[in-house]
Amino acid sequence: MTPPRARPKAGLAIHDMSHPDAMIDMHGIVKTFKNAAGEFTVLKGIDLTIYRGEFVSIVGKSGSGKSTLLNMITGIDHPTAGKVVIGGTDIYTGVTESQRSRWRGRNLGIVFQFFQLLPMLTLVENVMLSMDYAEMHDFDERPERAMEMLKLVGLEKFANKLPVLVSTGQQQLAAIARALACDPPLLVADEPTGNLDSKSADAIIDLFEELSRRGKTIVMVTHDPSLTSRTTRNIIISDGELIDETVSRALPLLRHRHMLEITKNARRESFQPHEVILECNQHVEDLYMIANGSVDVMTGNGSRSRVLAHLEANDLFGEIELLRGGKSIACVQAGNKPVEVLAFPRADFLRIVEESPITAEALGKIVQSRLEEHKKVIRKK
Ligand SMILES: Nc1ncnc2c1ncn2[C@@H]1O[C@H](COP(=O)(O)OP(=O)(O)OP(=O)(O)O)[C@@H](O)[C@H]1O
Ligand SMILES: [Mg+2]
Repeated sequence: MTPPRARPKAGLAIHDMSHPDAMIDMHGIVKTFKNAAGEFTVLKGIDLTIYRGEFVSIVGKSGSGKSTLLNMITGIDHPTAGKVVIGGTDIYTGVTESQRSRWRGRNLGIVFQFFQLLPMLTLVENVMLSMDYAEMHDFDERPERAMEMLKLVGLEKFANKLPVLVSTGQQQLAAIARALACDPPLLVADEPTGNLDSKSADAIIDLFEELSRRGKTIVMVTHDPSLTSRTTRNIIISDGELIDETVSRALPLLRHRHMLEITKNARRESFQPHEVILECNQHVEDLYMIANGSVDVMTGNGSRSRVLAHLEANDLFGEIELLRGGKSIACVQAGNKPVEVLAFPRADFLRIVEESPITAEALGKIVQSRLEEHKKVIRKK
């Protein structure tokens, strides 16, 4: 990819004090649709920060609000309340529709499920068109630049073909070449593989991985769970609300509504370095999920105690006592840095586990292996 040329300002110059590494910063986003039947709130107060260079997938059931959320990022639609800052620019406050559309053409690449190539234009002409719209790159440089983009996605041999004469996977690659033509730092894709066979879908994700390595930020909505393992971060939306990422990582097999319940009802607690979080031989009233930092699980809290395990962010503890009953068989204390945990009450946790057999099974395995480890360490004493 050639380095971006000096680009004229796109008409928006409202800067914001968001995190310097943030590409997308959303605060309190609410979206309500009104129709004859009344009001319907699709996004219920979303806070989300996505950092430069991240490759993020967004998943959620049909109707959960994924496309609506993307439309808030692209400025295709506007929020009922809240603020969206992209690359330091507040894209809604004091900005007209036409300013936003111009900003979008220069700063965003957008990819849809149905490629939306113009059928009467060849692939290279389709790619050139987006530079024409955004008035980017000198007129005589556009064909060369378009060919370069097609080469990047492996389609240079098909440049002069009409879309209908190439496969659907190749049409989507061409749509991505078109999205990249103005060298946007951010690529937003709504189910880009939803209409493709798995081999073509893989080719698209390979390309996204490569673009992400080259520094692009990519946000992709998908229905396909096999693709989320290839992104650097996965965000789940459930009924218009985001699930806490610690919860979805600690208990990945739960239903989304259960994850959301935990997100809403867990308490956030902070501990200083080496502070005791859970004493030995104590009733355990919560399931703990580590949001930040790391903890040491010890055989006791005296000087002769031994380390049983070292747990990191997104690990959980307390499950042995909650699932088996009885008092705590180990002591848990914060590591060298401050620790933040989510604590979720015992009775609600037990009810949710009962409603989710695959989570019960997975937790059962964790309990078993931790108990074996515990026995080994105690025996060595
Ligand atoms: N313009 C609109 N007017 C009224 N309701 C809308 C509008 N756009 C979306 N909705 C409603 O908002 C809800 C969320 O829609 P959205 O398209 O964001 O869901 P989604 O998660 O992308 O679903 P899918 O997986 O099916 O694409 C749906 O109930 C939808 O009917
Ligand atoms: Mg959608």
